[in-house]
Amino acid sequence: MLIRSRRGYELPESQVTPEALVLNRRAMLGAGAMLLPSVALSSHAAHAQAAAVPALPEHQRNLRFRPERDITAEREATTYNNFYEFGSSKSIARDAARMPLRPWTIKIDGMVARPREFDVDELIRLLPIEERVYRLRCVEAWAMTVPWSGFQLSELLKLVEPQAGARYVAFQTATLPAVMPGLRQSWYPWPHVEGCTIEEAANELAFMPVGMYGKPLQGSNGGPFRVVFPWKYGFKSGKSVARITFTDRRPDTFWNKIQPSEYGFWANINPEVPHPRWSQASERILGTSERVPTRLFNGYGEFVSGLYTNLQRERLWT
Ligand code: MTE
Repeated sequence: MLIRSRRGYELPESQVTPEALVLNRRAMLGAGAMLLPSVALSSHAAHAQAAAVPALPEHQRNLRFRPERDITAEREATTYNNFYEFGSSKSIARDAARMPLRPWTIKIDGMVARPREFDVDELIRLLPIEERVYRLRCVEAWAMTVPWSGFQLSELLKLVEPQAGARYVAFQTATLPAVMPGLRQSWYPWPHVEGCTIEEAANELAFMPVGMYGKPLQGSNGGPFRVVFPWKYGFKSGKSVARITFTDRRPDTFWNKIQPSEYGFWANINPEVPHPRWSQASERILGTSERVPTRLFNGYGEFVSGLYTNLQRERLWT
């Protein structure tokens, strides 16, 4: 298939994801030297034959989080994706449909009182599911508005009880070489790891979707289980999470390892701080010809600005 055989630099202009263009030689060599992860998540790989995905339990929309925008058409949101494990094109939905979504285990480890593995359906039974309509803003300056079904990340924290010394949370995406052709691009530092502080994880906006548009989350959008931080650029919202680690060290995150000058750890949305290749002043609304001004923290400042008051020395914005 096209996206399997092409390198990033061979894609037509319209499909080029700029990250692929800017990989410098040093990053490629450095990342290329890395092996595929030790956590190969064999429990997933062993079940290439996918089991049926149950429907979501009944749940309500939480009206506290008003989108102030029209919801993006489902077809747009589920077919225009960034998911580099499936390649660096936006059109990965068909390949990602091959992802075995069940059974799916999430390992929780590191600095928690109760480390353990959860089956995703067990989590769905244990935690209060609700729908939240959030704006999602990619650093490439496009945006969509999605009804996610899932649970507040803080509910998971309550289940596993982080230790007092835990300062960060790392989210690791599953690595399934049998279905993820992008993993063959060995210059990327697989596995995909993203992270946040423990305070960010405990914030009421941090959400763990298991569904969208009222249905179980598909592979293309990070099914069966992902994280979403709506006040940060989309690259912070790791997909298809298989391991969550609590730690006292800031995690080395995927894009930050590739190009630290362009992708910081914090990546909070700010229209006044341009990325080296994209102004962040405005954004294109997916599925429309509209461009609208970008808002600080993607318009979620009332919930999250307090998290950063004592962090003035950090590079909070890109
Ligand atoms: N997670 C993984 N594992 N791999 C990725 O390539 N891309 C990120 C993020 N999560 C990515 C990922 C980026 S750049 C964006 S903008 C969002 O997923 C896109 O989410 P969507 O495809 O559901 O819109």
